[in-house]
Amino acid sequence: MPHRQTILVFDTGLGGLTVLREIVRTRPDAHYVYVADDAFFPYGHRSEEQVIARAVPLVGELIAAHAPDLVVIACNTASTLVLSHLRAEYRVPFVGTVPAIKPACASSRSRRVSVLGTKGTVKREYTQALIRDFAQGCQVTLVGSADLASLAEAALNGGDVGDHEIAAEIAPCFVEDAGGNPVRTDTVVLACTHYPLLMDRLVQLAPWPVDWIDPAPAIARRVADLLGPRSGDANLAGAEMIFTSGRRHTLAETLVPFFGGRVPA
Ligand code: DGL
Repeated sequence: MPHRQTILVFDTGLGGLTVLREIVRTRPDAHYVYVADDAFFPYGHRSEEQVIARAVPLVGELIAAHAPDLVVIACNTASTLVLSHLRAEYRVPFVGTVPAIKPACASSRSRRVSVLGTKGTVKREYTQALIRDFAQGCQVTLVGSADLASLAEAALNGGDVGDHEIAAEIAPCFVEDAGGNPVRTDTVVLACTHYPLLMDRLVQLAPWPVDWIDPAPAIARRVADLLGPRSGDANLAGAEMIFTSGRRHTLAETLVPFFGGRVPA
């Protein structure tokens, strides 16, 4: 019997589902444990010390409980801070989610790129270093959103989220240089895994069309490379969903597509 691989996907809430969805496509045979640290959501409002003190031991407990073959930190706010700590503490391989500044700057034609993330992510030294190393001459605008992750959670939970609320959060991404020949932002990095949950509305509410860069497919390819070939029958693979608050998920139908058609236990 081949060993069934377990992949643990960690986020602060439901945003990591946008990463999970892509990983399940490339590895439908794996067993998935999705963990939402909703008891401490949103990480974007916490200090760096608080995030490290919360996430590092919690991920350690999850590794001890579920013995995953690989852990995906499907959260930019955590990855840009705790990945190095996690790799130093635990032996399991980690894949993080960090702002896709390099590919965005490589593909921007107007050389104007915005990075939309939580207030925590845009402040990180990790993010500043990505800009220093990979901006490739582009003008990069950092936009720290206070509420977009919470709005995405609310929308997925069936709440009524107004267009004006989303439009106000994304507006600073759209930069236009004054002058006779205006140059404007053509690429926006989605540097929070919650934001692709609102993809249709982001496209609809954008003042002009831009390329929205979602790193989830690249993360899924990295996971597949690290884990190697498929190791079991996708029809027999299962999935679990855990909230650190202890609540049970009540979203079965909405969640099924993210888990590749499975109903998570
Ligand atoms: N999903 C998280 C991220 O990618 C952010 C949400 C939060 O602030 O907790 O950054």
